[in-house]
Formats: sequence, C-alpha cells, structure tokens
Amino acid sequence: MMARASTILELLASCAAALCLAMPASVLAAEPKLAIDMGTGLQQFERSALLQRPEVRTIEVEGDAAYHRHMQYRALPLSALVGELKTDADVQFTATDGFVANVPARLLAGTGQPWLAIEPADTPWPALKPGGASAGPFYLVWLAPGKAGISPEQWPYQIAKIATALPLVVRYPQIAPKNVAADSPAQRGLQVYSANCASCHPINGAGDAAVGPDLNLPHSPTEYLQEPYLRKLIRNPASVRSWKQSAMPGFAADVLSDAQIDDLLAYLRQMTGQRP
Ligand code: HEC
Repeated sequence: MMARASTILELLASCAAALCLAMPASVLAAEPKLAIDMGTGLQQFERSALLQRPEVRTIEVEGDAAYHRHMQYRALPLSALVGELKTDADVQFTATDGFVANVPARLLAGTGQPWLAIEPADTPWPALKPGGASAGPFYLVWLAPGKAGISPEQWPYQIAKIATALPLVVRYPQIAPKNVAADSPAQRGLQVYSANCASCHPINGAGDAAVGPDLNLPHSPTEYLQEPYLRKLIRNPASVRSWKQSAMPGFAADVLSDAQIDDLLAYLRQMTGQRP
C-alpha cells in the first residue's frame, strides 16, 4: 500500500512525545505486540520474542511497496506464524490506523512468498513520510509478488493484528453483483475492488475499513464524475484534484491494467442498481 492518512498517527505520535515526559521508563520500554487469531483463540506475541524465533532470517525485498525501493529486513516466514491455511478463507491484517487488508489465503499459500518483517528496536526503519512513522513494527512483505499478482494494497504495514476471516463477499453479501454471469466484467470488477479498494472504501455501507468514502452511498462516483476524470483519479488522484492531506494512492498501469479498470467501473455501475 502506498500513501494513506497519517495525520491521526502523527497526532498520536506528538501526544505520545508529550506524555513521554511524564511516564516512567518501564512504560516507555513497553514492547510492541502482535495479536494473532487464526480461529483457535487470540494470542499476543512480543516483538523481541518474535525476533528470537529460529525461523527468523535477513531477507532482501526488491521493489518494496511501502518504501518504493530495495529493502532489507529481519523477518519470519508468514507460515511460521499462521500455520496451515484454509484456502477458501481470507487473512485479515488490521493496521493501527484502521486500514484493513483482507488477503485471500490462496495468495498467502501461493508462490508470492509472504514474510512478516519485524522492525528491531535498536535499528528502526526509515519514516514512510518525512517526520512520520515507519512501516513497523510489523509489515507484510513479499519476495515474489509479481507473478503471484500481489497488489500494493496487499502489503499492509503497521500491523497490529492478524486474523482469519471469511471472504469479504461472504461476510457482506450486499457487495456482490446480482444476476450477472461468473465471468462478467462486473464479477471480475468485484475482485479488483476487493484486492485494491476495499482496504479503504466501503461499498453499500459494507466493508471492514472506512478510510475513504463509500463508493455507492449515497451516490456512486460513476454517477457524479465524468468517466475520463474518474479514470484519471484512479490512476493518479492528484492529477484531478490535489491537496496536502489527500490519502488515496494512485494505481499505475503496472498495478491495474486498463482492462481491470474497465471491469472495476462495470462493477461500480452495476452497484448503482443495487442500493440497499
Ligand atoms: C489507502 C486507502 C485508499 C485506497 C486503497 C483507495 N482509496 Fe479511494 N480514496 C481514499 C481516500 C482517503 C479518499 C478521499 C480523498 C483523499 O483523501 O484522497 C478517496 C477518494 C476516492 C474517490 C473520490 C470520491 C469523492 O467523492 O471524492 C474515488 C472515486 C475513489 N477514491 C476510488 C477508489 C478506487 C476505485 C480504489 C481502488 C482502485 C481506491 N479508491 C483505493 C482512500 C483510498
């Protein structure tokens, strides 16, 4: 995932800095924890304990989606944490700022090689934006994202919790296009939406995240934006309107093809006829 709202985090960070003055050292030294719930109960793991696991390696990541360059991390293979995955489920990564990435388990079990990068306390990672927070303490990275079709939205960072979940469309049937063929553009567009947009935008009031506006309620952007501008906005929001706090990332042609945007728009248009 790329840019997203960091104001709340920055605010929290500055409050935290102010509070630091009044806090005992034992509180400051509190280790970040990762919560994991793979259906057998909630477990909490401290960063230092994770870094001491025997499966931890130093990995090299080309084309890192958060930092847009080559990166090196101490990391655990995701499988060492989540075990065997049921391939019809999703794995839900919840970040500290409310961003939620639902990654299909079949992708995690596939050829993309997902690792959980862990930010060591003594060698912090760079800030994502000048003066802001890093991608840590826990960040999902992929060693072979290209062929596996992993989108930048499927690199959740600042992870607080990993849990199994039923697929989005099973939990929220109101996001499914009705009375369309399985291979129709609208049906393919639902997949494009789920992988790239659902991490921030709800649709028909449904979804795990609300970082961006609902894409069908009260109106769909396919209704109130002229199509060429909507396409431009998806490719590069700042090319349509631009302000400092804008938090929507652009989707370049190597992430979403023109054909995938066609499918996505077919899905959004279909949903205008399916408002609850
Ligand atoms: C990382 C979060 C994030 C992702 C992922 C994301 N968006 Fe957005 N989007 C936003 C936010 C936040 C806004 C509000 C404007 C802003 O801050 O840029 C927005 C605004 C929009 C708007 C303009 C709505 C309006 O009424 O102004 C459209 C259309 C849109 N997004 C479509 C999409 C589509 C389609 C996708 C998937 C291909 C997508 N977005 C992915 C966060 C995101």
